[in-house]
Amino acid sequence: MKIINFGSLNIDKVYAVDHIAAPGETISATGLTLNAGGKGLNQSIAAARAGAQVLHAGAIGPDGAFLEQLLKENGVDTSSLLHVEGESGHAIIQVDAAGQNSIVVSGGANHTLTEDYVRQVLDLAQPGDMVLLQNETNVVEPVLRTALVKGLTVCFNPSPVPTQPLPYNLVDIFLVNETEAAALAELPADNDPETILDNLGWAYPRSTIVLTLGEKGALCRSNGGNNVQKAFSVNAVDTTAAGDTFTGYFLAGLAQGKDLTLCLKEAAAASAMAVSRPGAALSIPARAEVEEFLKK
Ligand code: RIB
Repeated sequence: MKIINFGSLNIDKVYAVDHIAAPGETISATGLTLNAGGKGLNQSIAAARAGAQVLHAGAIGPDGAFLEQLLKENGVDTSSLLHVEGESGHAIIQVDAAGQNSIVVSGGANHTLTEDYVRQVLDLAQPGDMVLLQNETNVVEPVLRTALVKGLTVCFNPSPVPTQPLPYNLVDIFLVNETEAAALAELPADNDPETILDNLGWAYPRSTIVLTLGEKGALCRSNGGNNVQKAFSVNAVDTTAAGDTFTGYFLAGLAQGKDLTLCLKEAAAASAMAVSRPGAALSIPARAEVEEFLKK
């Protein structure tokens, strides 16, 4: 069983700041680094480092060659990747002294995908494969609809929060943080997570919903039952890609036939490790490191 990820590939421009700039405020960065990122790329790398077979679908410009190289080095199948003219996607990321971030993404090549391309890639799918997508490419709806026709398991991380209506009823597994979950449930973000999860469960009764809560851990609703996963305590350096690491590890666990409780535990451990390191893709631990972490 493989994971086919229609995912963004971004060049992350990461600015170290004392605090996240407020509206109207100009601040000086204390450092700047260029990293590999994109929710899609991060999730592919996390799933591959967790041991899953991953095919990454998406597009890069000439400036994104290092993104493809990193996927390859991590064992991700990049044979379907498109090479287009123009810039790759990029993200402007502020990371403050407490490791919290603020991210603006610019689509670039991630927004050049077509419905034909979606069909070509999904023709490579085998029964039982998972299709993963986030909201950083321009083919979310075609992927949802084509995956349904092919009977594939659809896993959706609706980030950034979609501003257009989407056929959410086609999603088998939602992977959401509190902001995304509240938006999906059409509730104010300050509702308690259990209420948000209940509402999502009622709205999408056949879907599994994984709600990540940062340092409060994660909740999961599946088949009418709830699982609670506590967060592992670490020194937060950079929260970028923590959710992506959770998503990749969680889905890799499912693809490997692990039970839900173990998938959540391993995902929480991997995510905590990512938070304790700087960067996006580069902060994602390998499976052996996660197993070692869990022994302690
Ligand atoms: O989730 C983190 C990612 O969001 C970053 O790598 C950035 O590229 C944006 O896609």
